[in-house]
Amino acid sequence: MHNGTTITQFIIEEQRHIEGATGDFTSLLNDIVTACKVISNMVNKGELIGVLGSAGSENVQGETQKKLDILTNEVFIKSNEWAGHLAAMASEEMDDVYPIPDKYPRGKYLLTFDPLDGSSNTDVNVSVGTIFSILKCPGECSARPGAEGFLQAGTEQVAAGYALYGPSTMMVLTTGNGVNGFTLDADIGEFILTNPNMTIPADTREFAINASNMRHWEAPVKRYVDECLAGKTGPRGEDFNMRWVASMVAEVHRILMRGGIFMYPLDEKMKAKGTEGKLRLLYEGNPMSMIVEQAGGAASTGRERIMEVKPNGLHQRVPVVLGSKNEVERVVSYHKED
Ligand code: AHG
Ligand code: MN
Ligand code: MN
Repeated sequence: MHNGTTITQFIIEEQRHIEGATGDFTSLLNDIVTACKVISNMVNKGELIGVLGSAGSENVQGETQKKLDILTNEVFIKSNEWAGHLAAMASEEMDDVYPIPDKYPRGKYLLTFDPLDGSSNTDVNVSVGTIFSILKCPGECSARPGAEGFLQAGTEQVAAGYALYGPSTMMVLTTGNGVNGFTLDADIGEFILTNPNMTIPADTREFAINASNMRHWEAPVKRYVDECLAGKTGPRGEDFNMRWVASMVAEVHRILMRGGIFMYPLDEKMKAKGTEGKLRLLYEGNPMSMIVEQAGGAASTGRERIMEVKPNGLHQRVPVVLGSKNEVERVVSYHKED
């Protein structure tokens, strides 16, 4: 029997140290936790409940939606719209801001989320996740906030987290005071603190990048990966290992557990199309950067700190280089020298 700290207990105890805390934030996090438990159950049942496969629709980014993309988005909305903590939500799967319906009270926070990250992996039973970020609603929140309210730099985030639906379901959370990991005990329906104070080693010999894009890479990224691939006989003088899950949540989790660097950089193909990256700033880049930085790692576009990028749109994309600090700094220095 597990008699550890539940995530609810952990959040309440953490909030006790914050002067003027009303319990609003604690309660919001609890609703997010509930949503992730529901999603975990859905993802786990998979074909048994007929949720796998394509929905046949496209989201605002032109990606084909999986049934699970739509269902998990609905779970997040239903869990978080009623309690009065939020003024609005924004998600990968919704073109525009989702204002809290008039029948519910409006609160002072904004929530952004990627309800199902790595959804290309659902049909092949590989790990997927959920990513979320909490911001304060700027200005008058009793009015319906538009997209402008969400266009805050990542440094303004109040909290960020992800749920990983892998062999175990885990929740990893930061409120700006370190990073803590919890494992879902399905028998009692609670996330239990299993990984307190997660930290990323500053050095690593493991990198993650989709190498099928190699011919499009910019020179600094090509240089970095070439040097890793050259191994012991190259300028780094050491062999490197490579991983690519195609679920950012799983890659970031691996990096939190044993170090590493993850890159989805800007490349020539993206530049030709006029896009600034693959991953989205508000619900992928920023929350993951906050977690990684809080765990002692670094997160950059290659040219600037991700959390200092001023967003210009809800679905803005951003190049991502994150993980073990010394490796991220090396990639940044190669961009400077370029
Ligand atoms: P999403 O499923 O939310 O659209 O995100 C997928 C992202 C990210 O999780 C992953 O690292 C990357 O896209 C995978 O890209 P490739 O398909 O190019 O490997
Ligand atoms: Mn995603
Ligand atoms: Mn997604």
